[in-house]
Amino acid sequence: MNFINTIEKKRDKERLSKEEIRDFINRYVAGEIPDYQVSALLMAIYLNGCDDEETYELTMAMAESGDIMDLSGIPGIKVDKHSTGGVGDKVTLIAAPVAAACGVPTAKMSGRGLGFTGGTIDKLESIPGFSVSLEEDEFISQVKKTGYALIGQTKDLTPADKLLYALRDVTGTVGCIPLIASSIMSKKIAAGSDAIVLEVTHGTGAFMKDERSACELARIMIDIGRRAGLYMRAVITDMNEPLGHAIGNSLEVIEAIEALKGNAVPDVLEVMEVIIPEMIMAGGKAGSKEEAWKLAVDQVSSGRALEVFKKMIEAQHGNPCVADDYSLFPQAAVKTEVYAERNGYLSVKDCAGIGECVKVLGGGRITKEQMIDLSVGLDMKVKNGERVSKGDCLCEIYSRNNNEAEAARKQYLNSVEITDEEPVKNRLIYTLDD
Ligand code: URA
Repeated sequence: MNFINTIEKKRDKERLSKEEIRDFINRYVAGEIPDYQVSALLMAIYLNGCDDEETYELTMAMAESGDIMDLSGIPGIKVDKHSTGGVGDKVTLIAAPVAAACGVPTAKMSGRGLGFTGGTIDKLESIPGFSVSLEEDEFISQVKKTGYALIGQTKDLTPADKLLYALRDVTGTVGCIPLIASSIMSKKIAAGSDAIVLEVTHGTGAFMKDERSACELARIMIDIGRRAGLYMRAVITDMNEPLGHAIGNSLEVIEAIEALKGNAVPDVLEVMEVIIPEMIMAGGKAGSKEEAWKLAVDQVSSGRALEVFKKMIEAQHGNPCVADDYSLFPQAAVKTEVYAERNGYLSVKDCAGIGECVKVLGGGRITKEQMIDLSVGLDMKVKNGERVSKGDCLCEIYSRNNNEAEAARKQYLNSVEITDEEPVKNRLIYTLDD
């Protein structure tokens, strides 16, 4: 097949056939098509889009470019959860052990943070000793034993996505719905679960800047998953302000542990109340949202959800005592406070800008290989829309030194303002078909 014809077809807004898509992915992974030609095709897709059929074929070709996990040895409906990313989004850390405690086998494959968004793998690595690298058989036996395991992407999974994501990153083609949907769903399909609950975020702290694009991305990912035979659900989450109070790896794990102890802060609780029932129902353990939430609350108040989380930590070589003694987490050397300069309402202008504070502090990545400091971050004492008086503490900064604390303070103050009018708040979360 002549790859130039494939590029020209997409340039001229024609549909690509399954054979053309398979040929593109197989030969690119084999090193037979140069990056400059694939860049041209990615830009043509970025500009002219793909229909649902093409997006599905692209996803399956990417999923099948490497290993596909076989989780059939684990009894029950295996449920995975995915967030398209945000600032302070620690819901996976809470939802997975709660669902597992309710009897839903949770086989979770997660990613690292990049740019202004955090990643579940980095967060868990703030637990001393914790390992995210399990062989497939260890992963499966841990899910069977404890109901829950969480690993990083293995090297043999979706090699096509690894190559394409790196190329999109440097060719201005990341923000394209068919390419995002195929990238995420190829990894989810290869990870082998039976059901997927998607959390699709929108706003200044998300990839999708507006709610309409988030709904479209969710619709396409649901379509791909259903064609692949998976049970799919999606929730749409507002990310115009960070979720919860903590932003930064160890700080977010501590906030998640508090939620597992029954002390979730209000916005985290609101998201838990939607996502956790979706996971429990997807796993066939409840017939309604109310029944599922009641089960979840029972598992939290009895301490069983926290117990599952601790068992998972222990099975993955981490120190489960962190759940009872937060001083065992890596500690930042300097703690400083940021104060309100006037009376008014705190208004978040740029949620991604607040996420960038963690990067400024050395706790977020600019390149995929970068080492990060897991102790640093922010504790937002005041949330969007809350009233403040001059001199009130708006947030605490955990840093390695005073210079980085000052840079983060400036970054934080550029991302928020104090207004006379109360800012308009969006609906935080809803299930797509609500
Ligand atoms: N996350 C992914 O895995 N892929 C994308 O393209 C965007 C977000």
